[in-house]
Amino acid sequence: VRTETPFHCPVMVQECLEFLQPREGGVYLDCTLGEGGHALAILEKTAGKASVIGMDLDGDALESARQRLKTYIDQVQLVHENFARIGEVLARLGVNTVDGLLCDLGVSSRQLDQGERGFSFQVDGPLDMRMNRNGNLTAADILNRWKEEELEAIFERGEVPGAHRLAKAVVGQRRSSPFRTTGDLVRFLDKNGLHNRRTFHPATLAFQALRLATNREPENLSMLLSQLPAVLSGAGRCVFLSYHSLEDRAIKRALRERELDGTLRLLVKKPLCPRPDEIRLNPRARSAKMRAAERVSAG
Ligand SMILES: C[S@@+](CC[C@H](N)C(=O)[O-])C[C@H]1O[C@@H](n2cnc3c(N)ncnc32)[C@H](O)[C@@H]1O
Repeated sequence: VRTETPFHCPVMVQECLEFLQPREGGVYLDCTLGEGGHALAILEKTAGKASVIGMDLDGDALESARQRLKTYIDQVQLVHENFARIGEVLARLGVNTVDGLLCDLGVSSRQLDQGERGFSFQVDGPLDMRMNRNGNLTAADILNRWKEEELEAIFERGEVPGAHRLAKAVVGQRRSSPFRTTGDLVRFLDKNGLHNRRTFHPATLAFQALRLATNREPENLSMLLSQLPAVLSGAGRCVFLSYHSLEDRAIKRALRERELDGTLRLLVKKPLCPRPDEIRLNPRARSAKMRAAERVSAG
C-alpha cells in the first residue's frame, strides 16, 4: 500500500489482486478508476502485459489517473462514463467480455479534499457533490428544491437518524436562507443536533445520503449489478469494495441471486474488511467491505 504518493491511497489492494488474479494478456475493467491506484496494481502485477479499461464519471480523476499510470498508458483506455452503462461502453470499444471487473465505490481522497467539490463536511465549499461536473443536479439543488417527502426518503435510505424531522427542518430553513455551502449544511446539522464529533459522525451520514442522491449512486450500482455476469468471460472475476451498508446489501443480494441461478460462484461468503494495519495507515479504509465472485462457465 502506497501512502507516500500524492494520489488516493487504494483500499485492500492485496486482497483485490488475490481475487482478481490478473494475468498477462487479460483485460480488466476498472469501473471506478479514480486516481488509478488499483489499476496500477493490476498493471504492475502483470508487468504491464494486461490491459485496463478505466472508467470514471469524474473527468478530473481520469486526468489524475493518466499521470499515475503513465508508465503503462499504452495498456490503458480511459473512459469518461457512468458504470451503469458498462454494456454499451464495452460494445463501443469492441470488447465482448472482460477477465476481471473491479468496482471501488464512493469518493476518492482527492474529491473529498478539494473543497470546491463540496463532498466533505470538513472543508468549506459550494454544496456541489457532483462526481460528473457536467451533470446538472447539485446537492444544493436537492436541499433547496426537492419536496419534503423526497428529502425524507433520501435521508431514510442513507440511514440518517431522524430523517422525518430533518427533512421538515430543511424545508423550514430554506424558506429564510437557502443552502449554498457545505458550511451552511454543517451549521444546520449542528443546530439540529446532527453534528456530533464524538462517535461516527452523524453529519457523515447526512452528507453521504445527499451525495448518493446527487449522483444517483444506488441506481447506478443496481444497473451495473444487473449486467453481471454477462460482461465477464468464463471464470472471469468481479470484486466490489463498498463503504455504506446500503451498497453492501445491494451487492450481496445481487451476487447471491446469481449464485442461485448458477451463473456466479461466490469467492467469499461474508464480506472482507481491511486489516487493522491498513486502517492504521489509511483511516479512510475503515468502513470498506469487499465481496468477490467468479463467473461459472456455461456448459
Ligand atoms: C473510491 S474512488 C476509486 C479510487 C480508485 N480505486 C483508486 O485506487 O484510485 C471511486 C471513484 O468512482 C467514481 N464513480 C462513482 N460512481 C461512478 C459511476 N457510476 N460511474 C463511474 N465512476 C463512478 C468516482 O468519481 C471516484 O473517482
